[in-house]
Amino acid sequence: MEKKLKKLYIGTNTKMYQTNSDVSHFLNSLTSLTKDLDFGKIELFVIPPFTALDTAKQIISRSSIKLGAQNMAWEDSGQFTGEISPLMLKEIGVDIVMCGHSERRHILNESDFLLEKKVAKAAAHRFTPLLCIGETRIEKDYSLCNETLAEQLKIGLHSLSEEQANNLWIAYEPVWAIGQDGIPASCEYAEEKHGLIKDVLIRMFGKEIAGNIPVLYGGSVNQENAQDFIGMPHIDGLFIGRSAWDAARFNQIIRASLQSFLNKAHKEELS
Ligand code: PGA
Repeated sequence: MEKKLKKLYIGTNTKMYQTNSDVSHFLNSLTSLTKDLDFGKIELFVIPPFTALDTAKQIISRSSIKLGAQNMAWEDSGQFTGEISPLMLKEIGVDIVMCGHSERRHILNESDFLLEKKVAKAAAHRFTPLLCIGETRIEKDYSLCNETLAEQLKIGLHSLSEEQANNLWIAYEPVWAIGQDGIPASCEYAEEKHGLIKDVLIRMFGKEIAGNIPVLYGGSVNQENAQDFIGMPHIDGLFIGRSAWDAARFNQIIRASLQSFLNKAHKEELS
């Protein structure tokens, strides 16, 4: 039988929104709204801008919420003006490093080979690498989704050892589904792609290790669709932008998704 993850994974990337004081306001509300959650059942994380990481860490250190960085350099130090080193993130106490968000791939031209180095560096420093993958609208129209996803995984994770893969997270975010002009994927479509991603992970790392790697869906997740995505067998969590930036709304999504996750786990136990 397929191995099932024991927790639901839910987080938000606030992109280039939220100043220090916005993050402080957001996280003070979020920590207080979510303090009664059973953190044995949920892995909650937030990924604010670099300038707010320190503030964020101070606020969430009283909670079980994990902290992520939106990007990271592929070297520890050097002549890389404007880059942020893993050592800087370590000092703040960051847990997760996001690599290859679609905006970095498509606006900042980050390649799979650069992301391979970033993922490897993040893993070497014992951060949880969160590798984001997803096809563009054109790749979808030309039926190249499966090839694109396999390529992004095979190159991005190429330098990861099996042991390091135990501490890896993947976010599947179809580019056409993200942001203001995005259309959310249907649950069935997302489920099919999550199945494919898991097959590639099994081929790369074996069944046991692949079974430990959560695959999260992202792209126009909101209060209406969150629980339906989580009801799908291969969707282990959600990676949310706009709908999560209001703490009260995010809290509603978290609770609805957690209920859906518990129902799914119950059904799977009975079957
Ligand atoms: P969205 O963003 O939820 O606002 O579509 C998702 C993302 O960019 O990760």
